[in-house]
Amino acid sequence: MPLKRKIKELQKKREQVISGGGEKAIEKQIAMGKLTARERILSLVDKNSFSEYDLFVEHEARDFNMDKKILHGDGVIIGTGTIHKKPVAIFAQDFTVAGGSLGLMHSRKITKIMDYALKMRMPLIGINDSGGARIQEGVNSLAGYGEIFFRNTLSSGVIPQISVILGPCAGGAVYSPALTDFVFVVDKISKMFITGPEVIKTVLGEEISMEDLGGARVHSEITGNAHFFAKSEKDSFAQIKELLSFIPWNNSVEHESTRVRDPKREFKIDQIVPDDPKIPYDVINVIKSIVDDSNFFEVQKNWAANLVIGFGRIDGKTVGFVCNQPLVLAGVLDVDSSDKAARFIRYCDAFNIPIVTLVDLPGYLPGVDQEHAGVIRHGAKVLYAYSEATVPKITLILRKAYGGGYIAMSSRHIRADFVFAWPGAEIAVMGPEGAANIIFRREIKEAADPEKMRKQKVREYKTKFSNPYVAASKGYIDAVIEPKETRNLIIHALKVSQHKSMAGPKKKHGIPPF
Ligand code: HXC
Repeated sequence: MPLKRKIKELQKKREQVISGGGEKAIEKQIAMGKLTARERILSLVDKNSFSEYDLFVEHEARDFNMDKKILHGDGVIIGTGTIHKKPVAIFAQDFTVAGGSLGLMHSRKITKIMDYALKMRMPLIGINDSGGARIQEGVNSLAGYGEIFFRNTLSSGVIPQISVILGPCAGGAVYSPALTDFVFVVDKISKMFITGPEVIKTVLGEEISMEDLGGARVHSEITGNAHFFAKSEKDSFAQIKELLSFIPWNNSVEHESTRVRDPKREFKIDQIVPDDPKIPYDVINVIKSIVDDSNFFEVQKNWAANLVIGFGRIDGKTVGFVCNQPLVLAGVLDVDSSDKAARFIRYCDAFNIPIVTLVDLPGYLPGVDQEHAGVIRHGAKVLYAYSEATVPKITLILRKAYGGGYIAMSSRHIRADFVFAWPGAEIAVMGPEGAANIIFRREIKEAADPEKMRKQKVREYKTKFSNPYVAASKGYIDAVIEPKETRNLIIHALKVSQHKSMAGPKKKHGIPPF
């Protein structure tokens, strides 16, 4: 056959496969407000940068009449492209082909691109839109998932792994996204659950919609499984690109510096924190008064909002922020915020991103609910993550730093490299009211005017302990600084710690309180 005809044949074959599950299935996909798998990839990567592999892979299933079924691309598209002109590996499940269900060859396509991503040290982006294990392929589908989970774990901490949930992600399929670093969800489109509404109805007799069980809001506000919530697929892709503008491409390269810009003038650093420790404020304004161009990219914004995590740049370089949020529950640490902090600290540490911790908290959240939910076990994760992290760690105490909260939020004692405090900082075992009530109980009770005595003792306690100078006198704090000195000091601390080197005792690995 002459080459011209062979090329025509190739073009025809390509067109056939690219048509996915056919017009009707594509119409159904569009009617659900979803883009097609191919449109999704092309919306994400730089223009004309996508190169597809395994277009002609076919399934090998024979049971349940599968031998008569043609599944184009076996329900998944894989390839490489660029984002911000840098290489990425990507797969997108095609729901129009057998519901994007995962059979053996489908899983082999995914594991091939995962292997490329790890070998070439580039980020992996997985777009999930699937009915789960392809039922007709039985244990082969389960094997496929196992191979994917194994690779997710192998790549963890080496390359960034990003999951986007753009349709159903049911049953064991959810564990691949759960093993990745960042999960993106889209309102009304993403559905993630282990056991679906039908199983719940059969087993428990309860009726629940997919949306209420595992919709985008559920995972970004209640479970914490999702890190980014968007109103549309396009917005979600913009979020992914923004994330990729902050994080390094793998664990052995630094993210390139960007042009340094000063924080915006509207964020006046010395006017954000109120003098009265009982009055809340938004810690994000403090972050914005420190970072370049006041640009802060928050992670898990809608979950455990008493703690704020995210990325910013200082002097052009990416920094991870872990901050108590006095606006919500006075910024206490609890079960969820401990998990949120610990995982983010480990992400930053794995990818050599320095951590800036802003402290203002009255301690751990008291209560039976928290104790029974395992606040001991979860709280320990924060201690573990900070103690273990070897990246530069800079701590700034803005106001309250009481008790276990003071220790946990990257204190000197668990090896912060630099600890600064503003003059209004209060570093003590507990708040003045609680402390005075306990240690001066007898004096207060026996006084002619107990209330007057109580107030006097609170004042005494405040004068003695509610300041940064006791901790500074012991060297637990390196410097008490004026708010306006903060950015320059952090820039300096980052500069002098850029070659930080630390080695702990030899071990296979530690045993964190997972
Ligand atoms: C084979 C599947 C499939 C599956 C969907 N399809 N899921 N084929 N295996 N798991 C097919 C349908 O038969 C249909 O084919 C097409 O995909 C579109 O599906 P619909 O049901 O028409 O779409 P929709 O109404 O939008 O419903 C989507 C859905 C539903 C909610 C995802 O299809 C569903 O409940 N699927 C099963 C989900 C599930 O229980 N999966 C197994 C989970 S267990 P036709 O030919 O009619 O177009 C699991 C174990 C993994 O994943 C364990 C790993 C450790």
